[in-house]
Amino acid sequence: MPATYHATYEASRRDPASFWLEAAARVAWDRPPRRALDDAHAPLYRWFPDGTLNMSVNALDRHVAAGRGGATALVYDSAVLGLRRTYTYAELLAEVETFAGVLVGLGVGKGDRVVMYLPMVPRAVVAMLACARIGAVHSVVFGGFAPRELAARIDDATPAAIVTATGGIEPSRRVEYLPAVAEALGLAAHQVPHIVVAHRGGFAHDLEEYAGNRAGWHDWDTLAADAEPAGPVECAATDPLYILYTSGTTGAPKGVVRDTGGYAVALAWSMENIYGVGPGDTMLTASDVGWVVGHSYIVYAPLLAGATTVLYEGKPVGTPDAGAFWRLVQEHRVDVLFTAPTALRAIRKADPEAALLAGYDTSTLRALFVAGERLDPETYHWAERALGVPVVDNWWQTETGWPIAANPLGLQELPRKAGSPTVPVPGYAVEILDALGDPVPVGEEGNIALRLPLPPGTLATLWGNDARYIDSYLTQFPGHYATGDSGYVDADGYLFVMGRTDDVINVSGHRLSTGAMEQVLGSHPAVAECAVIGVADSLKGQRPSGYVVLKHGADIAEEQLRTELVALVRAQIGPVADFREVRVVEALPKTRSGKILRKTMRQIADGKEYSVPSTIEDASVIEALLPLLRPGGGA
Ligand code: COA
Ligand code: AMP
Repeated sequence: MPATYHATYEASRRDPASFWLEAAARVAWDRPPRRALDDAHAPLYRWFPDGTLNMSVNALDRHVAAGRGGATALVYDSAVLGLRRTYTYAELLAEVETFAGVLVGLGVGKGDRVVMYLPMVPRAVVAMLACARIGAVHSVVFGGFAPRELAARIDDATPAAIVTATGGIEPSRRVEYLPAVAEALGLAAHQVPHIVVAHRGGFAHDLEEYAGNRAGWHDWDTLAADAEPAGPVECAATDPLYILYTSGTTGAPKGVVRDTGGYAVALAWSMENIYGVGPGDTMLTASDVGWVVGHSYIVYAPLLAGATTVLYEGKPVGTPDAGAFWRLVQEHRVDVLFTAPTALRAIRKADPEAALLAGYDTSTLRALFVAGERLDPETYHWAERALGVPVVDNWWQTETGWPIAANPLGLQELPRKAGSPTVPVPGYAVEILDALGDPVPVGEEGNIALRLPLPPGTLATLWGNDARYIDSYLTQFPGHYATGDSGYVDADGYLFVMGRTDDVINVSGHRLSTGAMEQVLGSHPAVAECAVIGVADSLKGQRPSGYVVLKHGADIAEEQLRTELVALVRAQIGPVADFREVRVVEALPKTRSGKILRKTMRQIADGKEYSVPSTIEDASVIEALLPLLRPGGGA
């Protein structure tokens, strides 16, 4: 009898050790683990403490060894350049061995960090797998972040090398990476000895210009020409594979640490049981390698599964139109598509009747998965009607690395409910808690917490900072991991995720910190204090909206201030912040202890019923703000 979701979920809760040791058989180990969980340092846990493996062997060598070297591993499709290129498993392995040799030649070894600032090109995948091959820890920084954000990550990760490219291509402009990297190196305290640059046609490539910037600048191809291919290094399952920085409530990004063995096991399990993707299948994950969705479901999981992954350099709309995804599905015979709800909303806005679909053969498509932000019911219904395949919402975070809640299509397709990512994934114990940590009744909204230990593949800690990990996630509800999201579970056990409980916002599926934006606004000489809130946006999910109080005597026109503040956020955080809205106000609503009432402001701006805490310092401030805050009010 085939396994059912409920039986599998129960098995994962009843005896997690046996469940995950069994799941570990999907992975090729140098030394198979005999123990599942090391809880000696709880609340910090380690999975498969005595197992050893190499991630690049699992992603590449094992498929080649099994006679599948000629199967397609990676399809690169650049809509912005009109380019397509296919790599077999054998070809991708050869590239990875060579670049691993380049890194070894530069003295990069096991445990060293390598920061990557790369566009969506095959070399991003090659560089990540090359690090995995030699046990170096990669940290990919999304190209839409500004030099200051890159510098903050360089100082936290203290890399032995940076891998970058000459530039990226946005539909409206070319993005020169080298000046940004040079600026970041100037801002960072840590000295990076080596910068490896992948040359892209059409970009300036004069590395001499940067020489002497406290680092050696090298051309990827020149080093690769002389590199000795590098073999795989045996790593402990508990060794870090990567650090991925994500936004917290403060300006300082959090370096989520992913282990090697637990991640390999969890991803392999998820491909089979959630996404239903295996050898011979093609998966297109339209995200970016700079985000967790890209790490897990563009790079590692499809290759672990022996499938074909499509690396798409382009947008859902405008490159050239809202039929871009459908073209990709037809051209590359895509079985499973994974994207963010924002992308679907953008397609729907441009092509409300999905008329462009008629021009393509999308019959290979079995399912559409979406994650990164809440999938609103309208978009869900629209996509399901247009495509005629299951549209599967899955909820997770950078920290967890793979879904916490999903419809486990590969295991058993469950009935779907609009607005719900369905049910907890085996391995995760999801609980809804009130502010005191007590469970709330069924159907009532509360804090979504995960009972410890978390399953394999989830974060081990924050880079170099166990205390911050414990403080940020494990202290609020003892014995639990606090997700920072709120939601409820209905009578059928379906989870509904409603939004963040903290000051993190989600703009176009990109997770951003309003605290970081406030820090930038507050640095302007005319600004006395400020608040940034995330306001509901019909396309982007949320958009940041800034409210500033001027310093006494500040003499600047509101329009001028707005222009300067927008430019400042773009320069210091990056275009990805998409910060465009600023309003000057007389005062910000606060509690008597001085805490700005961002939640109340957000409720008003979203046109929702709002609550004003009894601890408010001066209720008239809210009254004065109402016309500005209300939807359609103000600027
Ligand atoms: N490098 C440099 N700049 C980047 C960038 C990158 N990798 N990615 C985005 N940007 C820039 C854009 O060029 C834009 O700059 P602009 O202000 O000069 O126009 C800005 O950041 C905002 O970009 P974006 O968020 O892409 O908004 P948009 O209005 O250009 O496009 C969508 C809207 C919906 C098409 C787009 O947001 C999208 O594709 N969303 C899906 C996101 C996604 O897949 N997220 C993954 C999470 S799973
Ligand atoms: P990130 O770490 O960038 O993946 O962002 C994680 C956050 O995005 C989560 O904590 C949620 O707030 C939100 N999120 C991601 N996926 C979903 C989803 N399917 N439904 C609702 N919110 C989501």
